[in-house]
Amino acid sequence: MATVASAGGGMNAFLTKYGEKENLNQYWYSDHTIKVMVEECLANAKKACFLSTPSIYFSLPKKSEVRKESWLFDLDDQWANLPNYFKYDYNFPDQIPEELHGTFDYVVIDPPFITEEVWEKYAEATKMLLSKEGKILLTTIQENAPMLDRLLGVKPRRFAPSIPHLVYQYALYTNYESDQLAELNPEIPVWD
Ligand SMILES: C[S@@+](CC[C@H](N)C(=O)[O-])C[C@H]1O[C@@H](n2cnc3c(N)ncnc32)[C@H](O)[C@@H]1O
Repeated sequence: MATVASAGGGMNAFLTKYGEKENLNQYWYSDHTIKVMVEECLANAKKACFLSTPSIYFSLPKKSEVRKESWLFDLDDQWANLPNYFKYDYNFPDQIPEELHGTFDYVVIDPPFITEEVWEKYAEATKMLLSKEGKILLTTIQENAPMLDRLLGVKPRRFAPSIPHLVYQYALYTNYESDQLAELNPEIPVWD
């Protein structure tokens, strides 16, 4: 069975290789948070779309079916040589290729901004990409809970993500129940 990219010790390969670009508001999840989010993908997805979440896409086990099937959508075109990369600017959801519409059973999202205007654009893209009954995993601030319930039907979970260089504490949201996300993240012990 394939294992997560950083299993067996050592720093996550994505975190080691890619620095955060300030001009693109890149803030990577911690090594442990990536592991938990990757486990969620492996448990729930056959074909996932990673909207502005490169650390999770690249930490899927390379030989897993879900890694082969999944797509990375991001504005950062340093990954443009990948066959499953789409240069995505959230301002233009209409540019998402039609052949990808409705083909994903899982979408993972972490936008560069937390405002409602930006979330409306990500919600439009998500609805375009997801198949019926598709699942959603996203992160943003806790205060966005009512807005995200209205836009995407997601609820905050007890597990909070660690994003070491971000000043806000984010919450993690899904539109489905998950046992591992019902547990506190030991990296964020005072969240409850
Ligand atoms: C806050 S970071 C989220 C990264 C995530 N926490 C991770 O560890 O993979 C925001 C992401 O949005 C991307 N981004 C920046 N501007 C964008 C835009 N206009 N449209 C789509 N993605 C954008 C960045 O390249 C970055 O990957």
